Amino acid sequence: MLRLPPQTPDAAVIDARDLVKRFDGMTAVDGMSLQVGRGEMVGLIGPNGAGKTTLFNLIAGTLKPTSGEIRIGGRDAAQDRPEQRIGLGIGRTFQIPRPFLDMTVLENVLAGAQRQDGESLFANFLRLAHVRRQERAAVEKARALLAFVTLSHLEHEPARVLSGGQRKLLELARILMADPSAILLDEPAAGVNPALLETIIERVLQLNAGGTSILLIEHNMDMVSRLCSRVVAMAIGRPLAEGTPAEVARNPAVIEAYLGAMA
Ligand SMILES: Nc1ncnc2c1ncn2[C@@H]1O[C@H](COP(=O)(O)OP(=O)(O)O)[C@@H](O)[C@H]1O
Ligand SMILES: [Mg+2]
Repeated sequence: MLRLPPQTPDAAVIDARDLVKRFDGMTAVDGMSLQVGRGEMVGLIGPNGAGKTTLFNLIAGTLKPTSGEIRIGGRDAAQDRPEQRIGLGIGRTFQIPRPFLDMTVLENVLAGAQRQDGESLFANFLRLAHVRRQERAAVEKARALLAFVTLSHLEHEPARVLSGGQRKLLELARILMADPSAILLDEPAAGVNPALLETIIERVLQLNAGGTSILLIEHNMDMVSRLCSRVVAMAIGRPLAEGTPAEVARNPAVIEAYLGAMA
């Protein structure tokens, strides 16, 4: 086992500082800082093109920043690949879920399982019984998570039969396989029918009550107000305002940014 340096007890789960991400010719994230505390639920809003999803990609490690710092659980994670960040406790869902369409719902959830012993294939080969035990435990856990997201009845169906909202719930179950300490949700309400949206909101509340930190990108301000005590607004890659949902929603700079993006 690799020994990791001790964590500062009060360190933010996510601590992004002065992040910049340039794509050739355009700057998507332009000096963005954001902290999410342990057990905190933070909303991230801003007009389309503000850089919200790019910021998620930087935190999850699917993109490398042009400059800036990212600490996860108090540790410098800037060089860590996405799988390593999952190991550090980051789970993220996508704005448009991309399940393996031909795999069953259960198999999709199992795909979120991290290898538990981190050992080589050969070591596993010598310990097949041990591996089988792990697999059985993983299937049990995946089934429990499918029950949690109300998809048990679809366990053996291919993921392609799921509605948009069900795919978002499936993604949630998949990332929960790795026991994340922080979850990044990218527009979980978009395109979801009201009944399923209620399920998503309830499950996010339950996860947060259990201590999971949540960073939520969402245009649905009703959902943001119900879930988040603190909201950060960004526009053109930069922080614009921060406060309670009500404070941010009536902030003139935020209103102007949304109107500007619509024009
Ligand atoms: N891979 C990429 N290559 C080039 N430009 C990108 C890429 N990803 C995002 N962008 C651009 O970065 C800006 C921010 O996009 P995005 O982070 O998706 O915003 P948001 O999620 O707030 O709508 C947009 O102008 C978008 O076109
Ligand atoms: Mg986006």
